[in-house]
Amino acid sequence: MPHPRPALHRTIFAVDVEGFGDSKRTNPHRVAVRCGVYRALRRAFTRVGILWADCELNDCGDGVLVLVPPEVPKAFLVDSLPLELAEALSEHNRSSPEGERIRLRAGLHAGEINFDEHGVSSSSINHVFRLMEAPAFKAALADSPGVLALVTSQWFYEEVVCHSVHAAAESYRRIQVSVKETSADAWIVLPDQEEPPRVPELHDNPTPVPRQLPVHTPHFVGRAEELGQLDKLLDNPAREAGTVQVTSLYGPAGIGKTTLALRWAHQAADRFPDGQLHVDLRGAGNPLRPEVALRGFLGALGVPHAQVPVSLGAQAALYRTVTTGRKLLVLLDNARDAEQVRPLLPASPDCLVLVTSRDQLPGLVVREGARPMPLDTLSDDESASLLAKHLGWDRVAAEPEAVAALVRRCGRQPLALAVAATRAALTPWLSLGSVESDPRWTLGVGDTGDRRVPARCHVGLGRT
Ligand SMILES: Nc1ncnc2c1ncn2[C@@H]1O[C@H](COP(=O)(O)OP(=O)(O)O)[C@@H](O)[C@H]1O
Ligand SMILES: [Mg+2]
Repeated sequence: MPHPRPALHRTIFAVDVEGFGDSKRTNPHRVAVRCGVYRALRRAFTRVGILWADCELNDCGDGVLVLVPPEVPKAFLVDSLPLELAEALSEHNRSSPEGERIRLRAGLHAGEINFDEHGVSSSSINHVFRLMEAPAFKAALADSPGVLALVTSQWFYEEVVCHSVHAAAESYRRIQVSVKETSADAWIVLPDQEEPPRVPELHDNPTPVPRQLPVHTPHFVGRAEELGQLDKLLDNPAREAGTVQVTSLYGPAGIGKTTLALRWAHQAADRFPDGQLHVDLRGAGNPLRPEVALRGFLGALGVPHAQVPVSLGAQAALYRTVTTGRKLLVLLDNARDAEQVRPLLPASPDCLVLVTSRDQLPGLVVREGARPMPLDTLSDDESASLLAKHLGWDRVAAEPEAVAALVRRCGRQPLALAVAATRAALTPWLSLGSVESDPRWTLGVGDTGDRRVPARCHVGLGRT
C-alpha cells in the first residue's frame, strides 16, 4: 500500500444552506441558491483580502467546504468576513424570489487535512460539520431575522476570536454540542444582529434531545399540496392563540397517512431543535393506553422513571410542564379517538402536533381546534411514479398499458400500489401485465371498498 501523503494544515470554513431541501423550493430555485452561495462567498472572501483562487473548494450539494491556505491570517475569517458574507447574502435575497433566498449556517475550525485522489478527509472537518448540526446552533438561526449564523470550535474561539481586535468576542455565546460521537463546547454568533443569540442554559447533565421518528420510505411520491399546507404551519406559529397547533391527517387504511406524516416530520425536524416525539397508538387494533405513551414520552424528555406519577392526570400535567418552553414536534400515529390523544398534547404554542387516524377526530377539532386534513388517493401520474420508484422507470415505461390497468385496479391507493410493486420487484422476470392479472397480488378497488386491507397485503410492507 502506498504511504498516504502527509496531512496539511488548513483553516476550515464550511457553509450549509438553511432549508435547502424545503418543499417550497423547486430544482431551478436550488440551482439559483447554489449560484448565489458561491457568488456571495467569492465576493466576501475577495473583499476581506483572501484570494478565492487560493482556496480549495469542496461542494456539498446544500453547502460548501472551503479550505483556506495556512498563510492567510485566521483573524480575517472572524474580523470582517462574517459581516461581508451577510451583506452579500442580503443583497442576493433582495433581488430574489422567496424560493431562491438564502440563509446560511457557517462553521469555523482549523486542523490537519488529508488530501487524496478522492478528495479530502480529516477529523477536523468532521468536527465542523458536527458543530453545524447542533440543535442550539440551528435554533439560533431559525430564531434570527438575519441571514447568517456562525459557529466556531472552542479552539478557534480561544485562539483566534478572543485575540482579534474586531471580532467582538463578547457577542459570542457558548453552547454544548452533543451530536453523534462528538461532545464538545462551541461558540455561536449572529454577525448581522445586534443582540447575541439566545441559547439554552448550560447544565452539567443536559436533558437528552429525543429523536424518535422512525425511518421513512425512500419511495415517497406526490402529496405536494399537503406538504405545502404543513409547511405553512411552520411560518404561522400559534403564539397569538397561545396554544399548541394540532393537525389531524385522516383517511382510510393504506391511504398514506403515516407515510406523509413521517416524510414531513423528517423534513421539518430541523425546526424543532428540542426534539421529535413519536408513538404508534395502535388505534386500529389494540389501542395503546395514553399512560403507556406518556411514560415513554416523559422518559425521553429526561424525567427519571421513579418520578413519573401513577395517575394519568398527574402524568399529563407533568408532561405539559416539561414541554413548556421547548420546541417539540409530536407525532401521534394511528390514533383511535380524541380521548386517547388529548393527554398527549403539550400546552406550549412552540410545539406542533401531528395526529394520524382513520377517524376524523371531531372531538379534537371542536375542543382543541385541531385542523383536519383529509387524505385522498394519488393521481394517475403519482401512482405511476410510485410504481417507477420501486421498479425503475425503464420497466414502467416498457408497459404503459399494464401500468394504467394496474393503477386502475389498485384504485390509485398507495398501499395497494406498493403491494403490487413489491410483487413485481420480487419477480423481475414477470411482465407487469401478468402481475396485474394475478388476483393474489393486486388489491382491487372493490377490495378496499370496506376500507380494510386484507392481511396478506401487509407482507413485507411494515407499518400501515
Ligand atoms: N406518498 C407515498 N409515496 C409512496 N408510497 C406511499 C405513499 N403513501 C403511502 N405509500 C405506501 O403505502 C403504504 C401504506 O401507507 P401508510 O402511510 O402506512 O398508510 P396509512 O397510514 O394511511 O394506513 C406505505 O407503506 C407505502 O409503501
Ligand atoms: Mg398508518
